[in-house]
Amino acid sequence: MTTPPVPILLDCDPGHDDAIAIVMAHRSPAIRILGITTTCGNATLARTTQNARRILELIGATDIPVAAGMERPLARDLVLGTADGPSGLDGTPWLPEATMPLDPRHAVDFIADTLRDAPEPVTLVPTGPLSNIAMFLLKYPELKPRIARIVLMGGAMFRRSEYITATEFNIFCDPEAAAIVLDSGLDITMVGLDVTMQVLIEEPEFARLARIDTPLARIVHDWLRHYEKLHRGQMGVGGAMHDPLALAAVIDPGLIGTRDAHVAIDLTASHAFGATVADYWGERGLPANVHVASTVDSAGFFDLMFDLLARD
Ligand code: BDR
Ligand code: CA
Repeated sequence: MTTPPVPILLDCDPGHDDAIAIVMAHRSPAIRILGITTTCGNATLARTTQNARRILELIGATDIPVAAGMERPLARDLVLGTADGPSGLDGTPWLPEATMPLDPRHAVDFIADTLRDAPEPVTLVPTGPLSNIAMFLLKYPELKPRIARIVLMGGAMFRRSEYITATEFNIFCDPEAAAIVLDSGLDITMVGLDVTMQVLIEEPEFARLARIDTPLARIVHDWLRHYEKLHRGQMGVGGAMHDPLALAAVIDPGLIGTRDAHVAIDLTASHAFGATVADYWGERGLPANVHVASTVDSAGFFDLMFDLLARD
């Protein structure tokens, strides 16, 4: 008996690695994408929303609705990423601007309507700053039971970020939103830098990707080449598969091992502003609120990604 696909909502800021998460989700029979919502992060909201639609047009998935969300974080100034270039998808100038329509609803209302209409609880997969999800939880708390769980890319526990010491980009962009999400009482899995920085695309993986040799695989190859070059320049290592790993963990939860912890966000005006501080031993006397991804099967991830790209 085949398992029915997991219904998901992808909330993202594409972004090369968000783009690959979208491609993988669309190609996986284990997943059904009910919609994509966008937020500022890797680039402005206008760019990330364009990019989400450009990607859907590229993969022929224009039946998936896209709704634009928060233009800025809840309570702090806008922070934009640099790792993907100003367009959020630099290095792919040949990818035309999108013409598919944008859903007229704000992302927050789109999420609410989608959850209400779905026959079963939906998994949220945020791969950008958590502004939309926090706003949704504030506006529609009654819909929380419609969320099966949240599997998000964000956070850095033992590992420190190269971005700004102690923080991971998605959380740093909107720490107040992250705090609201983590305090929601929902079932949350955080796929953060502790694991994503162990899943790096390097030459052997590029060689495997090149062998797939389909039009889509060639585009993914180009995205990743560009992304990897930027990463190597900034961090001295290959391209970390941040967002694709979070998505992959929904397809195959066995790819990561988790530890439960109470995770708090540093919201003090310190140099650790936006840091995710995990209490694995219950020292704070607070119940665990997160399954923290702590181990990862990197080879298994790449097998999955290449299998999905090689599918007809
Ligand atoms: C996260 O930040 C963004 O640059 C990536 O898209 C990913 O979601 C990694 O810290
Ligand atoms: Ca992202």
